Amino acid sequence: MRTRTTASLVAAIAAVIASAAPAHAIVGGTEAPATPWAVALTDANGQLFCGGALVAPDKVVTAAHCMAERLAITGRDRTPDGIRVVAGTGDLRTARPGARVAGIWKHPDFKDVSKGDDVAVLTLAEPLPLRTVPLVDADDTASYAPGVEATVLGWGRTAEGANPSPTLRQVRVPVEADADCARAVTGFRPDAMVCAGYPEGGRDACEGDSGGPMVVRGRLVGVVSYGKGCARPGEPGVYTRLASYRSRL
Ligand code: ARG
Repeated sequence: MRTRTTASLVAAIAAVIASAAPAHAIVGGTEAPATPWAVALTDANGQLFCGGALVAPDKVVTAAHCMAERLAITGRDRTPDGIRVVAGTGDLRTARPGARVAGIWKHPDFKDVSKGDDVAVLTLAEPLPLRTVPLVDADDTASYAPGVEATVLGWGRTAEGANPSPTLRQVRVPVEADADCARAVTGFRPDAMVCAGYPEGGRDACEGDSGGPMVVRGRLVGVVSYGKGCARPGEPGVYTRLASYRSRL
């Protein structure tokens, strides 16, 4: 009885350690090369809550849903004061406190992730001397063609229920056809969203990656928006289709 309890306790601890190991971060990804324009959004205490992309020295594109305080029962919005933009480093453990935010633009039609328009732009208090990522063109349809390989970056969970990653990770996922996505995702809006992932799952963004970049051929084409769980078979990741919002960004 005693040894059995010990054995199952050891097994349980091993399972917890295995599930939390950042061997496959984002989910099914690898360590990202230096990507100065990929930014982490933290609260004033340095706690990560989302990702973003530096598209101009003082502009960060992120998700509208990242502007809601996740734990606030009242569902209040974050204020510029409560956001720090950590840029120019892949390792959050050694990062200096992030840059301050002067203003927040949230898409005025945003209601919740399942309805689209999940995009926001932060204006920084001071411009950052870092390389920026170019935005997709408004008329670019090629970047959203089925099978196009997109790269997604972030510090989010490495599996459902695992911890966020202290270091920036990336994963490559193919863009899914809108018709396939519409079958998998209730309320899919092809004008506002794009899906990516493998039918069998295994590679995806996850909690904490929201707001972060989806890149095709060096251009920012999408923003991590949502998904049911992470990397599940038949459940693609849903991204904001930035080309549709280009005139407002
Ligand atoms: N909503 C999540 C966040 O706030 C990101 C979800 C992405 N999920 C996915 N399976 N692709 O961090």
